[in-house]
Amino acid sequence: MTRPRILQPAAAAAGDPAAEAAAGLLQPAAAVAPKFFYDAQGSRLFDAITELAEYYPTRTEAAIFAAHGPAIARAVLEHTGAPPVIVDLGAGNCAKGAALFPLLAPRRYVAVDISADYVAGALAQLQREHPALDLVGVGLDFSSRLVLPAELTGPRALVFYPGSSIGNFDPPGALALLRQARDVAGGGALLIGVDLVKPEAVLEAAYDDALGVTAAFNLNLLRHLNRLLGADFELRQWRHVARFDREASRIEMHLEARAPQRVRWRGGERSFAAGERIHTENSYKWTVDGFAALLREAGFAAPRHWSDERGWFALFVAGA
Ligand code: AVJ
Repeated sequence: MTRPRILQPAAAAAGDPAAEAAAGLLQPAAAVAPKFFYDAQGSRLFDAITELAEYYPTRTEAAIFAAHGPAIARAVLEHTGAPPVIVDLGAGNCAKGAALFPLLAPRRYVAVDISADYVAGALAQLQREHPALDLVGVGLDFSSRLVLPAELTGPRALVFYPGSSIGNFDPPGALALLRQARDVAGGGALLIGVDLVKPEAVLEAAYDDALGVTAAFNLNLLRHLNRLLGADFELRQWRHVARFDREASRIEMHLEARAPQRVRWRGGERSFAAGERIHTENSYKWTVDGFAALLREAGFAAPRHWSDERGWFALFVAGA
């Protein structure tokens, strides 16, 4: 049996997450990047979100794969040739990537995730189910820069970026990431899941569910900061806010102070007025035409898409 290879870029390249989070808290309008949601508890809460009745993206994307998987695979293979190398961005538990194996019969699977440990565990399990497949894990925060060793990806790879995670980037940031993804694909293809514009009530319920799981997911970021920074956020003093900004075409998530308070952490502190907010996430919603134009601007060719009957979510395939 082959063993998964795990690559971790130099610690220097990984940056200093604590310093980055503290700097965000000290901005005039406090903001902390959404990657800070995903400590172990946050990852479990996100998994719970994907099962909520109100959170349609995960199951809609899965339904599109179930209905059109073979056609999507043919479109990918036209660009990559067979067998492709799959590069899975934000692979996490690797379940979505592994679901492509029967369709694409890859020659290598490269799972990229901010947490090398998490992805190493997932790949060890996956290797038992696919003893001969070449599995590689890369611990990388590609939200700042996506570059991978060329000998790993080879020419004409498939870059797979499901789940509408591209929604966390504003349009210029999305364009920059897509250009880097195109370099990684090197003449191959991109397969990407994109959440679409839809009625506000549907969007706001998806990010403010009745059970309060998304509220817990958002508030958990403060627990993570308490650990990461040695901060003293009191979770009961904060409230979850999610609203759709139609102008910017994005869901915004914030944490709002319920009362005036002072928060301290190693090397810093800040006071918050009642009602003052920490911006924790943007989740951009695209139109099919808008996203196809973005793909072309990033240098991708011949974008095609598959969607559900309601037109709530789309899977795009484009040539790199
Ligand atoms: C993982 C970024 C795709 O924006 O829908 C879910 C994260 N935040 N509920 C999304 C999220 C609140 C999710 N993405």
